[in-house]
Amino acid sequence: MSNNMSRRDFLAKSGMLAGAAVLPGSKLMGNNAGQEEEAAGLPKVYGPKLKFRPDGTFKIVQFTDTHYIIGHRGCPRMLKLLPEVLEKEKPDFVMYTGDMVFDAPAVKALKEVLNLTADKGIPFAYVFGNHDAEYDAKQPALYKAALEVKGNVMPPFRGEGKMDFAVTIHDHDGKAPAAMLYCMQYYGGNPYDRPMRDRFEGMPQRRVKGYAWITEEQVNWYSKTSEGIRKSLGRVLPALAFFHVPLQEYRYAIEDPETTFIGIRRENVGSPELNSGLFTAMREHEDVMATFAGHDHDNDYAVLYHDILLAYGRMSGSDTVYNHIPIGARVINLKEGKREFDSWTDLHDGTTVDKWTYPTSFVDGPHNPDWK
Ligand SMILES: [Fe+2]
Ligand SMILES: [Fe+2]
Repeated sequence: MSNNMSRRDFLAKSGMLAGAAVLPGSKLMGNNAGQEEEAAGLPKVYGPKLKFRPDGTFKIVQFTDTHYIIGHRGCPRMLKLLPEVLEKEKPDFVMYTGDMVFDAPAVKALKEVLNLTADKGIPFAYVFGNHDAEYDAKQPALYKAALEVKGNVMPPFRGEGKMDFAVTIHDHDGKAPAAMLYCMQYYGGNPYDRPMRDRFEGMPQRRVKGYAWITEEQVNWYSKTSEGIRKSLGRVLPALAFFHVPLQEYRYAIEDPETTFIGIRRENVGSPELNSGLFTAMREHEDVMATFAGHDHDNDYAVLYHDILLAYGRMSGSDTVYNHIPIGARVINLKEGKREFDSWTDLHDGTTVDKWTYPTSFVDGPHNPDWK
């Protein structure tokens, strides 16, 4: 987020590595020792069943920060971009990572954005940004609106503060879970908008400045879900996590001169002021390969930090809000049975940039002759 932050007006595509090693992905270490929890089992599947293609790939497009206002003159470019990317990539799944709408009527606007995906028959999920519920619809109404759009894979509404969910991707036979997507919500308002501060009332984030953090309850939900999957399957599933506001670790990672990042960095990380430990939980459970945020419109980089890739989507949005890099979308191509995936960014002019592979593009070795 750009508020009160200095801009580092450069495009960077370099860095150095510090002790990065590929996660083994097969062993759980130091996890919840001593806790006697019942296995939570596998997450229930809602909506279209997702599975890897016969060639062992599963393609996700991330759209973020569309900031749509119905009828606004700054929106046609975004409304053209989304269908074009879907037509070009023909993804198996679309993930919307928040700030989809930027004014009332929010439900109508959200549905219009989500229907761009539904119109092409592509399954999708949506998580909130800090702006979506600022207008004439609160989060439950927005969640329920998304549930009404064809192709959603989101669970039924279970109550305020209980809208996080896990999405299962099955193997190419459709028989067994092969990968997991953790979709985590932004619960709270926009702290820089005075009337919205009221939205923190009754929430753990009240009276603390800055953006809402992932709550302890959300971290517990993630840990319990991850552990349930591991116990049910007897192994760790490769996973990705999606949420709107970057974690504090995004800040630590990019400020560390010994990390490797690829992409554009043009603003500071707009993370919350407090750290509630989601990154540490993910590191302990060893299932999440990468996280994908939105929120910082002028950042689209990915940086490797303690073996987990911390990435942004490319701002997909309208000229209703600040943005200084060409709009586009991140594409993620998972590989069945591997802790490895490819990613690239499609721009609104039809070009593709920043193609890389996790983890090899971020670590030194003979596979990476361009390493400097
Ligand atoms: Fe945004
Ligand atoms: Fe945001």
